[in-house]
Amino acid sequence: MKIFKRILFIPLFILSGFQILSAQSKAENVVVLNTESSKTLISKDIYGQFAEHLGHCIYDGIWVGENSAIPNTHGYRNDIIAALKDMNIPVLRWPGGCFADTYHWKDGIGPLDKRASIVNVNWGGVTEDNSFGTHEFLNLCEILGCDAYISGNVGSGTVQEMAEWAEYMTSNSESPMTKLRKQNGREKPWKVKYFGIGNEAWGCGGNMTPEYYSNLCRQYGTYLNYAGHGILKIASGASDNDVNWTDVVMKNVGTNVQGVSLHYYTLPGNWEKKGSATDFTQGAWFTVLKKTLLMDTLIDRHLAVMDKYDKKKQVGLMVDEWGTWYDVEPGTNPGFLFQQNTLRDAMVAAVNLNIFNNHADRVKMANIAQVVNVLQSMILTRGNQLVLTPTYYVFKMFKVHQGATLIPVSVTCRNYEFNNETIPSINASASKDSKGKIHITLVNLDPNAENTVTIDPGSMKVSSISGEILTSEAINSFNDFGTPEKVKLQKFTQINVKDNVLQVKMPSKSIVELEI
Ligand code: AHR
Repeated sequence: MKIFKRILFIPLFILSGFQILSAQSKAENVVVLNTESSKTLISKDIYGQFAEHLGHCIYDGIWVGENSAIPNTHGYRNDIIAALKDMNIPVLRWPGGCFADTYHWKDGIGPLDKRASIVNVNWGGVTEDNSFGTHEFLNLCEILGCDAYISGNVGSGTVQEMAEWAEYMTSNSESPMTKLRKQNGREKPWKVKYFGIGNEAWGCGGNMTPEYYSNLCRQYGTYLNYAGHGILKIASGASDNDVNWTDVVMKNVGTNVQGVSLHYYTLPGNWEKKGSATDFTQGAWFTVLKKTLLMDTLIDRHLAVMDKYDKKKQVGLMVDEWGTWYDVEPGTNPGFLFQQNTLRDAMVAAVNLNIFNNHADRVKMANIAQVVNVLQSMILTRGNQLVLTPTYYVFKMFKVHQGATLIPVSVTCRNYEFNNETIPSINASASKDSKGKIHITLVNLDPNAENTVTIDPGSMKVSSISGEILTSEAINSFNDFGTPEKVKLQKFTQINVKDNVLQVKMPSKSIVELEI
């Protein structure tokens, strides 16, 4: 993996030769940092990931087993561990997705040769030998230094099974489950931060009505309370615009849980013909970005419903599945959902992360699907080769916002127009970290036009600036196995400062991160 140096300090006297606009009012694109109203912490978990037993996410992805010729530590690929640590992965969701509601955790503990083989009925009908189970997942989280988010089985599992799982993982008391854990080689409990009570209960998680699910959620949650130590419970939430699901669950479950989830995927086409990940025209670029911006509206709609039942805003909205979903790569198993990842995906990631930051008061976690080798992945593997995708670089670029204090931004900008439709060309968010550094992340969605963005930093005095940029030649550039990277982070210097106002010259289709 290449390591990119990002720091470039630009003394202001060097910048003074640049051409600048004299007055902010003349500028087309203006971002105002409302530093005075900065108070909300951005949960680091907004930058969360999702590992599912699906295709080659776990097997031949994260997990190759100790006997593999691919360099590994206790069976986990070294290069994947290094890459995920480098992007500061804060939380990892596992084992699904749809897989979670068919998963019986006791199949995946104990000696490897005694573990049950099952059929992965959701994803390709392949044999799942359960060699990656609870111990392998929670030890991985410890190696990565990230929190664990377990997705429990409501669809086909029992209350007892779920409660015992929580007890097995997190209890310090003397009990049959902790005895079993110790027999399997783990003396101390692990820390499990989040526990999902089912997944997509309206679909692959049991095809339930929201009323029926709400009762089950309360019931399963009751016994998780007894068994789980310090676990935050997440109710299985809605998809897309299904605010009725959120309404019923909030009305009946409400503050019995700490979070309600939302799933929203971005497809260029429809579920029958989604569209190609790499072979697309400007029309599909525009559509995908327009649909991505809808995330903002969806969050507002679900939050409005949640607020009716939770006036104190105690329940977080967890967008625990999001990202692009395309037709699988030609020649690959349709059940494995393997797709490539271009600059367009980087834009989708950057816009979504800005949207989540700007909703930091209520969006407490988000998990892009999936971390390795599936939908909008950070990493792709083939044998011993590894590719870092454009989306990976966005997460690396945006990690500066994790745990920082949100600075609300007001954005005025020109529109990006295509076929008589328009979307705003600039998207942004900003935060202040614990050392007082300000970070601004900007996206120029327009693939045809450069955009100069004027940034008014409010009461903050600008003393030095550094920047980095992610862009590439074509809208569908991607990083591929065995070829030099086409989409990678680079230093960004097109910044000018006069009278404490910044002028940032963003190339077409680019993502810029500034540190002030
Ligand atoms: O991410 C793929 C699948 O999409 C997940 O398993 C499921 O929760 C969703 O429908």
